Amino acid sequence: MADSFSLNDALAGPGNPNPQGWPGAWGNQPGAGGYPGASYPGAYPGQAPPGAYPGQAPPGAYPGPTAPGAYPGSTAPGAFPGQPGGSGAYPSAPGAYPAAAPYGAPTGALTVPYELPFPGGVMPRMLITITGTVKPHANKITLNFKRGNDIAFHFNPRFNENNRRVIVCNTKQANNWGKEERQSAFPFESGKPFKIQVLVEPDHFKVAVNDAHLLQYNHRMRNLREINQMEISGDITLTSAVPTMI
Ligand code: GAL
Repeated sequence: MADSFSLNDALAGPGNPNPQGWPGAWGNQPGAGGYPGASYPGAYPGQAPPGAYPGQAPPGAYPGPTAPGAYPGSTAPGAFPGQPGGSGAYPSAPGAYPAAAPYGAPTGALTVPYELPFPGGVMPRMLITITGTVKPHANKITLNFKRGNDIAFHFNPRFNENNRRVIVCNTKQANNWGKEERQSAFPFESGKPFKIQVLVEPDHFKVAVNDAHLLQYNHRMRNLREINQMEISGDITLTSAVPTMI
């Protein structure tokens, strides 16, 4: 179950057998409110995922992750830009976010397409967790990490491309798609719940689905701070989309 899930297991991949700095459990990240502080005041309403995903802590299990000590330093204040006491632009230590983040108001499914803003862009150690359920007879899911009209990272599971299931990743700049990176491992199922975790690392986005590492996508747009929005679309019902720092 998610509580005992190891990040190192899920996000280890070829050439990345032991990703640095991951705490041992990530199944129960704080929900909305993972960004206390001035930078994200109320920016993520309604995204709390209480019990939305199998294995997630039920409502009331918060505050705090279920694995004590999984977020060392988690009470350290001011780690996020704009927070009082913040010493630098970005958290420099794991667990810089208070674990006891309050929930936003649970409102049920989010509207798809859904836009999740990243004020100040993305940065290494930022983890975006998306939960939902694939619709029956789904055709596709799309995540777009955007820089204005450009798409830094397009993550596009296709359920039926010439009768095959494939995940297509790409970047779009000035309206032109680049070279596709294709992945035939396909963890999504029509009608079933899913959890996608995208971790921003210095050189790539790292994606886990249902607690298992899926793929990495090397940054083509290297100015991460300009990636200021994620768009979620496709044949899903969307339960939550929550950025946290790990
Ligand atoms: C195109 C498709 C786009 C995008 C792109 C990725 O064929 O129309 O939506 O998925 O491939 O390379």
